[in-house]
This record gives sequence, C-alpha cells and structure tokens, in this order.
Amino acid sequence: MITIHYDDEKLLRQTLNSCPVPITETDKQQVLEMNEYLKLSQDEEYAKKHKIRAGIGLAANQIGLNKRMLAIYLHDDKEYSYALINPVVKSRSIQQAFISSGEGCLSVKKDKPGYVYRSYKITVEAYDAIQDKVITIKATGYLAICLQHELDHLDGILYYDRIDKYDPFKKIENAMEI
Ligand code: NI
Repeated sequence: MITIHYDDEKLLRQTLNSCPVPITETDKQQVLEMNEYLKLSQDEEYAKKHKIRAGIGLAANQIGLNKRMLAIYLHDDKEYSYALINPVVKSRSIQQAFISSGEGCLSVKKDKPGYVYRSYKITVEAYDAIQDKVITIKATGYLAICLQHELDHLDGILYYDRIDKYDPFKKIENAMEI
C-alpha cells in the first residue's frame, strides 16, 4: 500500500539514485503500483473512501523510495499512462509554458500560488513498465509540464522552488498559457 510522503522530509529534497539495468521485477512492480495509485486517486468514490487526493503524477520519493522512477496518469485530449524508470530528458523547447491555475503536488499540503514556467515541449527517453520497453515520449503542453514536474522530483526540486518569490504571477513574454 502506498503512503504519500511530504515536503518536510529529506528524501523529497534529494537527487535520487538510478535504478539498476536490466530493470528488476521489483522496480517494475513498484512503478506500476504508482501508476495504479494515480488511476484510483481519480476515481471519486475510491478517493473519498480512502481519504486520498487525486493526482496525475507521482515520483518514487513521494512514496518513500530513493529510485529514479515516476508515474503519470492523465486524461487530457487523450489518455496518457506511463510508469517510467530512469527517465532522461533528450531535448526541450525554448518556448515556455505555464498552467494559468498554477501547479499542485500530492506532497505539498497547501497549494502555493504562482506561475511555474517550464518548456512547452519536451522529449524524454525512459524504460516504461507498462509497455515493457524503452520508449521516447514527445510531449507538449499539459503533459510536458506534468512530466517536468515529476522529473524535478527526481532531483529534489519542488514546483514552488520555481515560483518567483517577489512576484509569483510575473508574466514572461511569449510564454504559452495552458
Ligand atoms: Ni509533485
């Protein structure tokens, strides 16, 4: 059973260790469980019954594991479901984007207001436990932002670190609003 860890814990501020290759069955199972947790968290009845918050992304340190693994489960224009091990950013756009309503995080109890600027487009390579192979994800918009939020977790970075302390709603020219 998954327990969410919060941002007052050291593990949320650490750069996580890569998983051994070939990928172990344990790592596969754990990252698949993280994906399943997200899916269930979006089921209103289940979430209410188990008193959990709905999430679209989860990194391994958020459940107490020091491993470079993350899961995504998101319905946008279509369904995106990933259980990634050792993800690596291959490229990112200069074009910036931000979510106009701000970001949230299962490990942050109270939402911190402000804009988080990230790349609009990102290419990530990783082993995906759902497809059971190394894949390349070319993501734009909401999915790209979600991936970057989770990738940050693997390096101990939280979304509010990226909000301007003095001007949280600062506008950056040409940044795409999502
Ligand atoms: Ni988060």
